[in-house]
Amino acid sequence: ADVVIAIDGPSGVGKSTVAKRLAERLGYRYVDSGALYRAVGWAAQAAGVPFEAGALAEWMTRVSLKLTFAKRHSELWASEVWIDGQCVTSKLQGETVGAAASAVATVPAIRQVITSLLRGVHGQQEDESVAGVVMEGRDIGTDVFPDATVKFFLDASIEARSQRRFQEMQRRGQSVTLSRVMEAVAARDARDRSREVAPLVPSSDAHVIDSTNLTIDVVVERMLSKIRL
Ligand code: CDP
Repeated sequence: ADVVIAIDGPSGVGKSTVAKRLAERLGYRYVDSGALYRAVGWAAQAAGVPFEAGALAEWMTRVSLKLTFAKRHSELWASEVWIDGQCVTSKLQGETVGAAASAVATVPAIRQVITSLLRGVHGQQEDESVAGVVMEGRDIGTDVFPDATVKFFLDASIEARSQRRFQEMQRRGQSVTLSRVMEAVAARDARDRSREVAPLVPSSDAHVIDSTNLTIDVVVERMLSKIRL
């Protein structure tokens, strides 16, 4: 992959939807970096590892983490996450795993493993017709690919983000209240923004888009216009 499109932003901002659409439109690979943090958080919890930096870092040295690509629904090359030979992609949704992800994401040794895995995607060439990658996360433009071709930072008000997350969870049949979702989103935001390693901040050269009052289609078109300049 030659072209790297980085999309960063807080939770519930619509990054995944936008990133997938963009990847589809451009014929690029789509990588959800959060899925790796979620997979590690999920597996650490499943293994009963104490959520403490030293224990998590030590456990991480014994885990094998892998990212592959599969064409699922449509022509989109989406990433799948493997931990110790098990595909865990389907286990990663929900706020419980989200909170575990945000906890393990504060551990530098874990960030290092995931960051180098993400950088490796760049050179992965099972299909040479794929000319680029759209990668979404928190630190793609700042840390993973500081030289990304185009960077976006997608933001929206806490109310709009919680509302979107709430609707998404309702669609999945989860029983939640809006105020609970808002609490969880706010707590995860606070942790992601204030952590010492790779805190969530826009890269100075990112196009910042506030999607509070924009539809997904408008956001995607706005991004395409920056990419095609
Ligand atoms: O989908 P959502 O925005 O809720 O979360 P996610 O992208 O799946 O990420 C889950 C958690 O992983 C975040 O709250 C971050 O703490 C962490 N993360 C990170 O630190 N760096 C990334 N590049 C991606 C996710």
